[in-house]
Amino acid sequence: MSKILMGQLTDLPPGGVIEKRIMARRIAVFNHGGKLYGIEADCKHMKASLTTGNVENGILTCSWHGWRYDIATGDCLGRPGMKLRCYEIQVEQEKIYLII
Ligand code: FES
Repeated sequence: MSKILMGQLTDLPPGGVIEKRIMARRIAVFNHGGKLYGIEADCKHMKASLTTGNVENGILTCSWHGWRYDIATGDCLGRPGMKLRCYEIQVEQEKIYLII
């Protein structure tokens, strides 16, 4: 298990997102309604960055063609088997860590 520093809590207000490329994958931390979600950020359709997408009521919508994902589970809505990987987040001393 590895702990990767994603940023400072002060850099991620509600509605914000931090993206990093880790082992050739985009991984993002979203602050949605004050809760942090760690999730793979390469869209399963054509690999667009999901950090440019919109999050509303727990659903992350890709800005390219509108594929929709449950931000808590990574499930792609209406496309069984398509799933983004989700990651545990830990906050320690105002720092945000992703657990891989
Ligand atoms: S690249 Fe995300 S919906 Fe097409």
